[in-house]
Amino acid sequence: MEDTCDAPFVECNSNRKFFEKHSKLKFTTGDHTKADVPRIGEVVFRFENVGSTNDVAKTLVKKGLPEGTVVIAKMQEQGRGRRNKKWVSPSGGLWFSIILRRKISPSCMSLIPIAAGVSITRAIRRLYQIDVTLKWPNDVMAGTRKIGGILTETSSTIDDCYAVVGFGINANNSFKSMPAPLRNEMISLSDLLGSEVNIDQLMQESLSEFSQVYAKILSDNLGDVVREWKTLTNMLRKPILVYEDEAPFEATALDLDSDGALLIQTKDGVLRRLYSGNISIRRIEV
Ligand code: BTN
Repeated sequence: MEDTCDAPFVECNSNRKFFEKHSKLKFTTGDHTKADVPRIGEVVFRFENVGSTNDVAKTLVKKGLPEGTVVIAKMQEQGRGRRNKKWVSPSGGLWFSIILRRKISPSCMSLIPIAAGVSITRAIRRLYQIDVTLKWPNDVMAGTRKIGGILTETSSTIDDCYAVVGFGINANNSFKSMPAPLRNEMISLSDLLGSEVNIDQLMQESLSEFSQVYAKILSDNLGDVVREWKTLTNMLRKPILVYEDEAPFEATALDLDSDGALLIQTKDGVLRRLYSGNISIRRIEV
């Protein structure tokens, strides 16, 4: 491997080897303007095994890697889901993170997780003709089982502003012999299709779909993204159970707001907006 990241693909066998080789490198960050066409996946770091691709991506941000850099690993030992849940990431799944770094408005930023969910749903529907749906904010579901999820981590300071968007897609990692409740809550593409899928093709399709949806956000077509999310979900106007910090409560999911918040009506008729992070919706009538 050359001591440069100009090459489109950087193969890394282990974290340590990569950082030993690149510890003294300085990468330059493109000065992105809003009108730039995003170049997602121009630089790809491939690892056999990492803690979490999101963590590696954050380290690469500090080294100055540009927007669009992708980190992919065959397996993760400390894969994370939303609300600090463990994300089981054995070999066979598609685990990758995309670095986004440019100054965008808070309303654009809040739609990035929504956009990411739309992009995987599009990719899976297009490649395998499976009618996967979105459960707010961005769980990709096959019926009542989860097939993929997104973990977006952001940081905004005077000097820098970035988001790392982590995609977890259960591709060829079967849940059939996993213990309950995992076996009943999760499913993989190979479990559904009865044969293995091409992981590289799935990643390319996901990156390409994400580039398109992200471009809509950057060109202020936020309404398009919200409208598309609504066509890909079947949870609106249905009863849901909302888990917040305290006891769960029943509500009806009414709409997705322009900033990605879920509008709900509680059983007492109170209208509320839910934001990602401290709530989860566990049971949906489908
Ligand atoms: C969720 O639904 O809770 C989000 C799951 C996100 C998992 C992906 S796998 C790649 C990236 N690295 C992580 O540690 N998590 C995300």
